[in-house]
Amino acid sequence: MHLRHSDHDHGPETVPVTFLLEDPEGLTGTEKTEWNMMAAKGEHLLEVAVEGGVNIEHACGGVCACSTCHVYIEKGMEHLSESHEAEEDRVEEAPGLQRNSRLSCQCTITGDGPIVVRVPAWNRNAVKEVPH
Ligand code: FES
Repeated sequence: MHLRHSDHDHGPETVPVTFLLEDPEGLTGTEKTEWNMMAAKGEHLLEVAVEGGVNIEHACGGVCACSTCHVYIEKGMEHLSESHEAEEDRVEEAPGLQRNSRLSCQCTITGDGPIVVRVPAWNRNAVKEVPH
């Protein structure tokens, strides 16, 4: 599935984002569990991860129509765009829902960070019908 990218030009990559992987082998083909990246404000977490080599599932391509890109925000929730109703409805379908659950494709970086994101191991194939 093609990944939706955030649509405007971004500024410099000044925001530190750490991804903690419960299944590094499945997501990256390596054993490395901690990935540190720099991101720009205006990018969403899913594209930051995928472009940095962490292949978070995105069955709907990042348009809030599945829940495969579910992650936990361990730190820095205040540096991300707020969750909207459509995301909340959708994330409720994700297995392992927690208070810090978000859909990574819906988290736009708005603050300076740092942001720490945990990617659960079971984050696979909760695919729903994608509207056309
Ligand atoms: S990729 Fe489908 S909701 Fe994020």
